[in-house]
Amino acid sequence: MTTIKRIVLESRPLGEPSPENFRLEDTELREAAEGDVTVRVLYLSLDPYMRGRMSDAKSYAAPVAIGGTMEGETVCEVVRSRHTGFGPGDIVRGRTGWCTGAVISGDVLRKVETHGAPITTAVGVLGMPGFTAWSGLKFIGKPKEGETVAVAAASGPVGSMVGQLAKLVGARAVGIAGGPDKCAFVKDELGFDAVVNHRSADFANNLEVVSPKGIDVYFENVGGYVWDAVLPRLNQFARVPVCGLVAQYNGAAPSETDHLPTTMSAILRRSLLIRGFIQTEYAGEHFDTFLAEIGPRVAAGEIKYREDIVDGLENAPEAFIGMLKGRNFGKLIVKVDANA
Ligand SMILES: NC(=O)c1ccc[n+]([C@@H]2O[C@H](COP(=O)([O-])OP(=O)(O)OC[C@H]3O[C@@H](n4cnc5c(N)ncnc54)[C@H](OP(=O)(O)O)[C@@H]3O)[C@@H](O)[C@H]2O)c1
Repeated sequence: MTTIKRIVLESRPLGEPSPENFRLEDTELREAAEGDVTVRVLYLSLDPYMRGRMSDAKSYAAPVAIGGTMEGETVCEVVRSRHTGFGPGDIVRGRTGWCTGAVISGDVLRKVETHGAPITTAVGVLGMPGFTAWSGLKFIGKPKEGETVAVAAASGPVGSMVGQLAKLVGARAVGIAGGPDKCAFVKDELGFDAVVNHRSADFANNLEVVSPKGIDVYFENVGGYVWDAVLPRLNQFARVPVCGLVAQYNGAAPSETDHLPTTMSAILRRSLLIRGFIQTEYAGEHFDTFLAEIGPRVAAGEIKYREDIVDGLENAPEAFIGMLKGRNFGKLIVKVDANA
């Protein structure tokens, strides 16, 4: 195996990718060095993130160069090995890209271990997508027994795992999927408690019906109008692992008026944790600690403060209105009793 086929990025798409953005070409394999492994690609995983790699917009990962091999993970068979960890016939997983074969460092390959499941699962349910669902739920979503977990793209590798893991902890799994066939699969085969078709006209209403107690964990895979429907259903203290925004991936330039897509995109790409809170959530348990810690520092002048004191209750409205325009300077307080 000296010549392989590969698909390179011919041009960057604007909006939806088209076949013209790709080029199939023959190329010579490079000479294998010490530590390299020569592989024949058996399966290539296609994943939504690849749309991002086709773009040179700022992202968490570098774009594929024009003329470069499209990125992707593959399941391969080792043909020759100059790496002590691998031998001919081994089935491995690696990021060879969209190609029929590669010479690749053995250090970045991993032997496929699927516990008897087909080797394709190494790039699916037992690979990156399955792990994505597992880790997003474990570390961010944290579903509890009795809670409602909703996920879109529910028939896909990430979503299908999310719902099934939710069921395992005793949560109610609500799937959102596109079309009756996918919905039937999610409910009947995957065992979700309920599923709604986001392509139906009464999607938002249907979502309300199947989440009567609201949603405690929404595993965000798509964004767009699905998010609009989910947002009002989120309960207090709901958790939203922002995993993917596939509805935005083909999007045009950012809107000057609608900042939601860029906000969601920043949350995803920079792993932002945005968590609202009302102080009463903590006060009962922590106020005394706060007072004991900060009170002496204020009294000692270590922590400084400023007050803006207005005389007379009758001046309260004006002071209040002024505060909303920034006229106060320091903590605005009304001195109601002149003798105080
Ligand atoms: N953060 C991470 O590390 C990470 C890792 C892996 C995947 N992801 C993300 O997780 C998400 C799911 O990935 P996957 O591999 O499991 O994908 P997938 O389900 O195999 O494919 C994407 C699905 O998204 C749905 N979809 C596409 N456009 C949509 C739109 N405009 N509105 C609503 N739904 C739309 C479609 O399903 P329906 O027809 O059912 O709507 C489509 O089949 C993606 O956003 C992906 O980028 C993130």
